[in-house]
Amino acid sequence: MNKPEDIKTKRDVVDHLLSHRSRHPVRENVNASAPANIALCKYWGKRNTELNLPVTDSLSLALGHLGSNISLSMGHKNDSVVLNDRELKPTDPFRVRTLDFLNLFRENQDEFHVVAQNTIPTAAGFASSASGFAALVFALDQLYQWDLDQRSLSILARLGSGSACRSVFEGLVIWHAGTSDDGMDSYAEPLGQQWPELRIGLIILSEEQKYIGSRAAMLRTVETSPLYQAWPDTVERDINEIQDAIADTNFSKVGRIAERNALTMHATMMASDPPIMYWLPDSLRTIKRVWNARDEGLDVFFTMDAGPNVKLLYEAHEQKHVLEYFPELVTTDG
Ligand code: PMV
Repeated sequence: MNKPEDIKTKRDVVDHLLSHRSRHPVRENVNASAPANIALCKYWGKRNTELNLPVTDSLSLALGHLGSNISLSMGHKNDSVVLNDRELKPTDPFRVRTLDFLNLFRENQDEFHVVAQNTIPTAAGFASSASGFAALVFALDQLYQWDLDQRSLSILARLGSGSACRSVFEGLVIWHAGTSDDGMDSYAEPLGQQWPELRIGLIILSEEQKYIGSRAAMLRTVETSPLYQAWPDTVERDINEIQDAIADTNFSKVGRIAERNALTMHATMMASDPPIMYWLPDSLRTIKRVWNARDEGLDVFFTMDAGPNVKLLYEAHEQKHVLEYFPELVTTDG
């Protein structure tokens, strides 16, 4: 087992968590799945870019059965990655990221065959990397029969993509930023409160690749935005208040906090140099429509991530009315 000060790379984390566990696959073929998640209080900015350690806590809602299914097998002649029924070229970024991640775990010459299927409509423009890496970690745990605890699974998923550590769980989830350099205290866990009425729907405005990925955008924000110094305190306040609102099942309060948290994140990145502006004119139009609907009495709020699409927050019993205002809404409750 490594001493905390010796844990500096992803590989060190893997060696530490797996310690004496086998690196020889026990099973030939496994299947696993994990839900996508949308943050109500966002993760934006890392304190350690190698280990994906965040500056702040974050809090999310899982999207139930919408996410990724992964089938993983070994013993093939070459590595191969199939995404949504299409075999990916060696240079494809999804393939490169997936194999880089799997390389952290393999010690022999066995080749991986990965078949990934996103159950989120691909057209919906949801980021599926969180559910993808969480499902991969579940699959590896089965393939090697490690029987890791949930905290370790969450830490391993974080190495693939930060927000993936939250996709290890269903429902409302909090990711503790932690303070240690080795990141062993930076993991997600369920809030422990069920709120099946809480819904997230999608307004798809563009399906284009984001013009700057979240990794580069976070780095630029932390390094150049004069507003970033206010972000940690903002998130701390929002996370405290949203947890109280969740405990009270006070939907309007949850929505208000989620909305202002997303707007503060976007304002902070817009103040970067060069600026980071994910919005399209239609994003702002949609925001205004949400506010108009609210003025007319509909309890609906929005959140946005690293892209121009808008996600609506509402309670299940309002879905019919939300669809009247937003007929283009893609619902995520199946
Ligand atoms: O985990 P990443 O690197 O894909 O970053 C996620 C960033 C946001 O989606 C904007 C916020 C969040 O907490 O999910």
